[in-house]
Amino acid sequence: MHFISLALLSVFVAVASAQKTLTGAFDCTAAGAYTLCQNQWGAFAGVGSQNSTLLSSSGNDVSWATNWTWANGPNNVKSYANVIHNTAKGVQLGNIQSALTNWVWTYLSESEGIRADVSYDIWTGVPQSGDPATSASSFEIMIWLSGLGGIQPVGSQILSNLQIAGHSWNLWKGPNANWQVLSFVSANGEVRDFDVDLNEFFKYLIAEQGVASTQFLQAIQTGTEPFVGSASLLIENFSVDVTS
Ligand SMILES: *[C@@H]1O[C@H](CO)[C@@H](O)[C@H](O)[C@H]1NC(C)=O
Ligand SMILES: *[C@@H]1O[C@H](CO)[C@@H](O)[C@H](O)[C@H]1NC(C)=O
Ligand SMILES: *[C@@H]1O[C@H](CO)[C@@H](O)[C@H](O)[C@H]1NC(C)=O
Repeated sequence: MHFISLALLSVFVAVASAQKTLTGAFDCTAAGAYTLCQNQWGAFAGVGSQNSTLLSSSGNDVSWATNWTWANGPNNVKSYANVIHNTAKGVQLGNIQSALTNWVWTYLSESEGIRADVSYDIWTGVPQSGDPATSASSFEIMIWLSGLGGIQPVGSQILSNLQIAGHSWNLWKGPNANWQVLSFVSANGEVRDFDVDLNEFFKYLIAEQGVASTQFLQAIQTGTEPFVGSASLLIENFSVDVTS
């Protein structure tokens, strides 16, 4: 009797904790090892709306979705709906043993000619901790698994067809505020099933791009930057696990 009621309680809690939809421009919700946020920081440049739903979370695995429709300001990012890992940070890049990640995603629907990326946004800096895009930031490392509609990362392309982690990348570089942005853009179109060790990017950046091994990992975020159009993006599965 006691055993059965405990089992029922745990089923109830598991169901109750999933399927939460965010509608406010800066709403966030706890999502297991992550925090899911709408982050509509650029919405003032256009008109539209976006809602994000936490579907499930378990340990380092999270599944979520975001629906967006944005018009005007075709060259402006409207938002970065994303999950940020709550604890995969505070370690120096040179001390990372592995940063295994798995990202399976798809567009359930997309309007004609959408302009949007689906990307990692990884932040490093001199202090051990610091929020993304602040005075604590030295480098913003983006990995674009998709970039549709002719959009471009910050700066200019400095290398093409780099082979890292079993994929081919074009590397873009340029300054933004007080930090440098280094963006790896898939050179072979969209990558909708991505299963790599991010440490291969960190090792490359230390060896070839002057990123100090003493830089602290401050944040790992993954999400989407829509410019214009409308789409329904499903993150079937995302995980990242940093060990040092
Ligand atoms: C987001 O939700 C609001 C209701 O809260 C709705 O009016 C709007 O159409 C939704 N946007 C999208 C892109 O689904
Ligand atoms: C989700 O990611 C985890 C961790 O990489 C993996 O064990 C699991 O098989 C993945 N599930 C799917 C459906 O891809
Ligand atoms: C997002 O769009 C999908 C269809 O593409 C729909 O099933 C889902 O309910 C929508 N979610 C929200 C929060 O509007």
